[in-house]
Amino acid sequence: MKLFLDTANIDEIRKAYALGVICGVTTNPSLIAKEGRNFAEVVRTIASIVDGPISAEAVSLDAPGMIDEAKALAAIHPNIVVKIPMTAEGLQATNSLSNAGIRTNVTLVFSANQALLAARAGASYVSPFVGRLDDISLDGMELIYDIMEIFNRYQLPTEVIAASIRHPIHVITAAKAGAHIATIPYRVLMQMIQHPLTDAGIKKFLEDWETVKNK
Ligand code: E4P
Repeated sequence: MKLFLDTANIDEIRKAYALGVICGVTTNPSLIAKEGRNFAEVVRTIASIVDGPISAEAVSLDAPGMIDEAKALAAIHPNIVVKIPMTAEGLQATNSLSNAGIRTNVTLVFSANQALLAARAGASYVSPFVGRLDDISLDGMELIYDIMEIFNRYQLPTEVIAASIRHPIHVITAAKAGAHIATIPYRVLMQMIQHPLTDAGIKKFLEDWETVKNK
């Protein structure tokens, strides 16, 4: 399973990318708003750091508007993938953009039917939001299992991005479910690195090394 970073924060992207474990970035309007900077400028900066798919979201609600926005975003950098909301208008836009060779990530997916429709419309990626389903007492990861079963059975080329990831267990479960990608917040990436036994092991090795290093 590939790992993307789910943030628009340039500092986080630089630090995470330097680890060599991230191969893409996803943003959304809320993440962009947190940075308080010009959208195109943020996306351009991310593209200058990360050599991989970078999702930037269209905010129009009608297909022609989404298509116009998508063309403008795709013109910023060849690695830009346009996030399109999972609506009827969004499906039309996805299909038209797919035919025009512009990659899309259909977002705000909360059911296997929505994922199937997005794949049939030609989406390059679908983003089921695991954490937001958990938030309303549904099992977000069950959705990932369902989508993977359907996509694998029919060999659909659309890649599944497990999104709205809230903690490290989500990442492990998404990987076990066969998701192609998990997009994770920087905080979760840092949690994934940590293990108390690693810290204790380093401490003990250094203490023991002190006793012999000058011998
Ligand atoms: C993914 O593409 C979305 O940007 C993101 O994962 C949403 O996560 P949230 O539900 O924590 O806002």
